Amino acid sequence: MKSQNHWSAVRVSALRDLTPTVREIVLQPVEGVAQHWAPGAHLQLRVRVAGREQTRSYSLVGLPADVPGAYRIAVKRLADGRGGSMAMWDLAVGDVLPASAPNNHFPLSLDAPGTLLIAGGIGITPLVGMACQLRERGTPVRLLYAARSAAELAYADDLRVALGDALVCASSDRGERLDLLAALAALPMGSPCYVCGPAGLLDAVREVWAAQGRAPADLRFETFGSGGRLPTGSFQVKVPRHGVDITVAAGESLLDALEAAGVPVMSDCRRGECGLCAMDVVDLQGEIDHRDVFLSEGERQGNQRLCACVSRVVGSVCLDSAYRPDGDLAAQSDANRGFALVS
Ligand code: FES
Repeated sequence: MKSQNHWSAVRVSALRDLTPTVREIVLQPVEGVAQHWAPGAHLQLRVRVAGREQTRSYSLVGLPADVPGAYRIAVKRLADGRGGSMAMWDLAVGDVLPASAPNNHFPLSLDAPGTLLIAGGIGITPLVGMACQLRERGTPVRLLYAARSAAELAYADDLRVALGDALVCASSDRGERLDLLAALAALPMGSPCYVCGPAGLLDAVREVWAAQGRAPADLRFETFGSGGRLPTGSFQVKVPRHGVDITVAAGESLLDALEAAGVPVMSDCRRGECGLCAMDVVDLQGEIDHRDVFLSEGERQGNQRLCACVSRVVGSVCLDSAYRPDGDLAAQSDANRGFALVS
């Protein structure tokens, strides 16, 4: 949770372009060495976007031994994103930035009889280490990996060496599609499936998963949230409890804007999964573009809460927060239903 974050400095020690839009960045702690982490873990970084420091979350790639003492991430350049990826692409070797300790809400079960991994685009990053760890242990694993083009299949060559035929790639530019139905049908009942990719991919997997009568807890996921169904523009936000009346710019998240204005909001994943940042909607003039995967469809339609890290508004909104500076954090977390990384 944000309230527990401890920031320390890391230095960019290496850069490598994996595809035309994906850059690998190796980060070396300025003091000491990287803390221990396991596949599925992520690192939060503070980057300057439009003159403000903002927090971004990146999955750690591969296994700790791949870059001893350091961290490795890969960043997709999104020219029309919120600016964080562009700031990361502007980094040069030697640059220093604040980083959290590794945190893992996407842990891998090592004792399952078999495992299916499904990646969409840059969602490959946490799954590289999972695939390698399972393969090292001799646990049956398959990895389905889709991207818009074959040139954007980052780490595919390494994965092919590690997994052989257990890696199945599909690229849209070649007219290829993942056969989710067949892949899930071949997964023994009771085995877990890990999905990381856009919300649309997760929705497609969820549909097949439910149709096959599988346990919801065996489907584990991380997403980039949804790209939204409404245009990304600026909007007005009031938080009367804190006397705040601000404009959220098109290039920043509601959560970043509230934090910059001094409004305390609990957060963790910052990508619409955990629900910790969910805020109460007191009044709405316009429409909410829910971009999270935490709230249920009914909750989204009810418009009584929104996830500040990813969701946006067309118009204006008045909000209140479950966070109370002198309140019971456990109760607040419970009010937000805790983590929902397992659907
Ligand atoms: S911080 Fe996790 S949903 Fe917003």
